[in-house]
Amino acid sequence: MHALAPQAAQRIERLIAAMTLTEKAGQLSMRAAGDVVTGPAQAQGLLSGIRSGAVGHVLNVLGSEVSPSAQTCHELQRVALEESRLGIPLIIALDVTHGYRTLFPVCLGEAGLLDEATWELSAREAAAEAAAAGISMTFAPMVDVSRDPRWGRGVEGAGEDPWVTSQFAAAKVRGFQGRDLANPQQVAAVAKHYLGYGAVTAGREYASVELSQRTLLEVHLPAFAAAIRAGVAGIMPGFHDLAGCPMTAHRHWLIEQLRGELGFKGVMVSDYNAIGELLQHGVAASLAECATLALRAGVDIDMMSGAYEQGLPEALERGWITEAQIDAAVRRVLTLKTRLGLLDDPYARGRDIESPEAITSRRALAREVAARSLVLLRHREDVLPLADPGGPICVLGPLADAPAQMRGPWPAACGPNEPISVLQALRELPWEIRHASGVDLDSEDTSRIPDALSLLPGARTVLLCLGEAALMSGEAASRARLDLPGAQRQLAEAVLDHAHGIPVIVVLFSGRPLTVGWLAGRVDALLAAWFPGSQAGPAIVDVLSGRVSPVGRTTVSWPREVGQVPVFFAQRPSGRPAGPQAGPFTSRYLDLPNEPLFPFGHGESYGSFKLTRLRVAPTVLRAHDIVEVWVEVLNEGRHPAEETIFVFTRDPVASVARPLLELRAVGHITLKPGEQESLHLSFPVSTLSFLDSTLTPVLEPGEIEVLAGPCAQRSRLLGQSVRILP
Ligand code: BGC
Repeated sequence: MHALAPQAAQRIERLIAAMTLTEKAGQLSMRAAGDVVTGPAQAQGLLSGIRSGAVGHVLNVLGSEVSPSAQTCHELQRVALEESRLGIPLIIALDVTHGYRTLFPVCLGEAGLLDEATWELSAREAAAEAAAAGISMTFAPMVDVSRDPRWGRGVEGAGEDPWVTSQFAAAKVRGFQGRDLANPQQVAAVAKHYLGYGAVTAGREYASVELSQRTLLEVHLPAFAAAIRAGVAGIMPGFHDLAGCPMTAHRHWLIEQLRGELGFKGVMVSDYNAIGELLQHGVAASLAECATLALRAGVDIDMMSGAYEQGLPEALERGWITEAQIDAAVRRVLTLKTRLGLLDDPYARGRDIESPEAITSRRALAREVAARSLVLLRHREDVLPLADPGGPICVLGPLADAPAQMRGPWPAACGPNEPISVLQALRELPWEIRHASGVDLDSEDTSRIPDALSLLPGARTVLLCLGEAALMSGEAASRARLDLPGAQRQLAEAVLDHAHGIPVIVVLFSGRPLTVGWLAGRVDALLAAWFPGSQAGPAIVDVLSGRVSPVGRTTVSWPREVGQVPVFFAQRPSGRPAGPQAGPFTSRYLDLPNEPLFPFGHGESYGSFKLTRLRVAPTVLRAHDIVEVWVEVLNEGRHPAEETIFVFTRDPVASVARPLLELRAVGHITLKPGEQESLHLSFPVSTLSFLDSTLTPVLEPGEIEVLAGPCAQRSRLLGQSVRILP
């Protein structure tokens, strides 16, 4: 973080010196406006709190038709500036996770582009749109690595892999914050939910986490480290406890690791009501104790629990905390307000109305990104693209015309009717469309299935839009079953039974992988759409019609059944690995293969790619070398398309058993039919170091296999060994 100019630092010290304890606690307290509800506790008296100095930050302001967000935000700022004693402006925060009013695809979908430039650009657009509405902070990016699709919040992150999540984290921070936080088109980013929240027990939201120190350091920490290197302004500890110690009070992970080892100097924002919830965790008996534990662990801003407001005075009086500790937190908060430009020009964000061109080009970008986020899980050649269906298309299923669902679980300021549904987009084309939903999203009622089936005779193609409701993923949306909700399976099976040769294309909307092996085996094409955002319909039509060849890859493995969870590519080998030649005493299931339904990185396109001639150089490596990788890629298909290549490594003999595959680099190549080119990728040898048995980083000499291919399925990778010298 940049140091402030001496004058700005002095201004902060003057303010701190002038503050009462109430005003200090106020700068450490964030209260909800309630335009959106993102937690159980609601607060009263927002304006009176701002006036008295008891509230220094506001979250969840959306405005309304009568008073749009920017006006509402400016009015809140005016009250803070003109009606509070010290006139300190507010930070106004919202969960702008994948867009503000113009929604990009949910993060799990956008992650599948594996394209840092786009990740950064969409965050920059989201920031500009939110800032134009007066927002100065977003609670994003969420950088929890998640390997358990039962957990609903996987939708907010970048999937199962620490390398992808780290790249995603840094790109999002750069996009949200830009080079200068004072720029009124940028907002402060808050990386969350530190640390290991993606591993809640049994995928159940708000549950405990049990993770080894190694897994915390190797899998969960790198994305936070990447966010910090990118200059992230804030970090939010998660709701969870780590083996009994709630994160909000975890001095080792917050003070020693985050502030110490990682050198994080920014602001720590609690999760919603999390400081007060130390009571329910059973580690504090009063709000004063809650406040003490959190402040001592370095948490600067209390979101919504009132523990700092009510508990700090008592904690101070009893000598549990010192005034210097409070001042240190206030100093960090005021430093961020200064860096955001709020102390100099509190009305800058939201002053200028965005131009129609800016809005139009953002929409076009949202459409492009959404189209590129779709993952073609399976398709039979010749079914797609649907250049001209040459006859009626039956558009069926509960998600064919469900604009609100397209937003996913964090819609920010996008109204329920604003996104464009698949049906609406298809109706823009000169194609004959027949439509019936057949069933509701989550009801057992099958009475309308016959109506849907009656549309089939004479149709050229069936487009079946199935999946989860938006709120079946996201916060407090864990699922123990990963199948299609309600009677959707009955609808799909009835359609497949009655299709009699009509190609059936399924568009699957979800915030997580679903257990759809039964479906994948029967349909002609299966497209994972996640939740594509505002431009869902046009983006899906772009891909179906071939304007865009699918490029999205899944950044999570899809389990065949819930019993395989967690299934992820970076598992360790086991002393008794399973395999085709292996005997009975091996690490496997009796009733299912170990492999996922779709591996990490899977995604088909309209091309057909063949990889040959992997070359890795140098083959003898020293610690400071760069490993260069080349692979020949040939498009044997009939359509131009883009291929994504992953480079993994495998350390076959190390002092600690290493994962079967570790991701090192990703590249893309676009080829015309029949075209062949060499793709070049590279990664530093230093990234091959790992934590030894004492958790000390070490680069061990010896053989390393470098593998390249289109996904994490071992049989599809080309490999070459190299040697690290002592
Ligand atoms: C969520 C956070 C979110 C916050 C504010 C909490 O319930 O866990 O991710 O940023 O609410 O809306």
